[in-house]
Amino acid sequence: MFDVNAICQDFPILREHPDYIYFDNAATSQRPQAVLDAVTDFYQKTNANPLRGLYEWSVGATEAYEQARHTAASFVNAKEDAEIIFVRNATEALNLVAYSYAMEQVGEGDEIVLTVLEHHSNLLPWQMVADRKHAKLIFVEPQADGTVTEEMLAAVITDRTKILAMTMVSNVLGRVTPAEKAAALIHAKGGVLVLDGAQGVPHQAVDVQKLDCDFLAFSGHKMLGPMGIGALYARRELLEGMQPFLRGGEMIEYVKRTSATYAELPHKFEAGTVNAADAVGMAAGIRYLAQVGFEAIEAQEQKLVKILLDGMRKIPHVHVYGPAEAALHSGIVTFNIEGCHPHDISTVLDNEHIAVRAGHHCAQPLMEYMQEKCSMEFRATARASVYFYNTEEEARRFVEAMGKVRKWLGFGE
Ligand code: ALA
Repeated sequence: MFDVNAICQDFPILREHPDYIYFDNAATSQRPQAVLDAVTDFYQKTNANPLRGLYEWSVGATEAYEQARHTAASFVNAKEDAEIIFVRNATEALNLVAYSYAMEQVGEGDEIVLTVLEHHSNLLPWQMVADRKHAKLIFVEPQADGTVTEEMLAAVITDRTKILAMTMVSNVLGRVTPAEKAAALIHAKGGVLVLDGAQGVPHQAVDVQKLDCDFLAFSGHKMLGPMGIGALYARRELLEGMQPFLRGGEMIEYVKRTSATYAELPHKFEAGTVNAADAVGMAAGIRYLAQVGFEAIEAQEQKLVKILLDGMRKIPHVHVYGPAEAALHSGIVTFNIEGCHPHDISTVLDNEHIAVRAGHHCAQPLMEYMQEKCSMEFRATARASVYFYNTEEEARRFVEAMGKVRKWLGFGE
């Protein structure tokens, strides 16, 4: 039985600050005690360099790390643990694919398809590939509410398309993209699907075999885990054919003075001392999510988004972007208030102990697009993003505050 008040008690920061409204979960989530304990326990009980030592503590550290990989692999239903590469975050995962896969596979005149929704992490690596390989970036332009359709994708994917790199969920609008259909379209043309799951994996059950994606990038810190740990899922056959991204200790089989052979998967892609403690913390976060269940998580997020949308739409001068239905927002409500720069909105909300993100959200091309499509006053928005531990009471207090922002900023009404 889902009990949001009991859940809040599991998060020390929420317990300590019951009046603080944390609505910046798309930037990073909060962490339950179980995650903090998992990290501390690693250092207190079995700390040693994993994968190197032949003694008890190092073996224990290796086991904990590989168990974390198993948890992450099961979470996204990878066929095998070796298809999960631990990285720092989704950004690093996407750069790994760009450098180790795309730089080898993309050639002059080839095309990489993206959407205008993309976060900079799923744009700049492809700009680099296109630039260096003289390939072309093709952009799908979504509808004004962020919707990308199968037809839009089909219209631009051709025999020249080597990669379709697409977010699962817009970090600005919360709109989910048609990932499963995208896989069929790109595979029919012989290309690969790279999914940026940073905003998708924390909020919905993800099954990479069902999605049939080739690569999936996600971060631990947006799904209860520590900062500095994330994962790349990739099909074994693709990983086998790729060069390492980083080279150094622990990713080798045998090294001579002028050459080297590399370790088996997944270690070929994990050079240097690994971030085992945070991988263990990320696994504890995954277990917590599994215990709550995505059905309950999505239901709570939708309930909160509905309160926000229904309330905010009634307030004069407030403009909410994205789809009309709460169910299509994936926990994200992006808005502007006439005459108020989003940075000012965020600052006055901070005075009320309400945290939202304001600005371009690392998605400047989308801001430019929205400014035109949605007649936005600024090339920026304010964004409230909820998670399952936020309460209906918080959502109602947020709506109340929305009605006062213009007054706080010196407007007469
Ligand atoms: N990508 C994160 C966000 O949308 C940081 O806030």
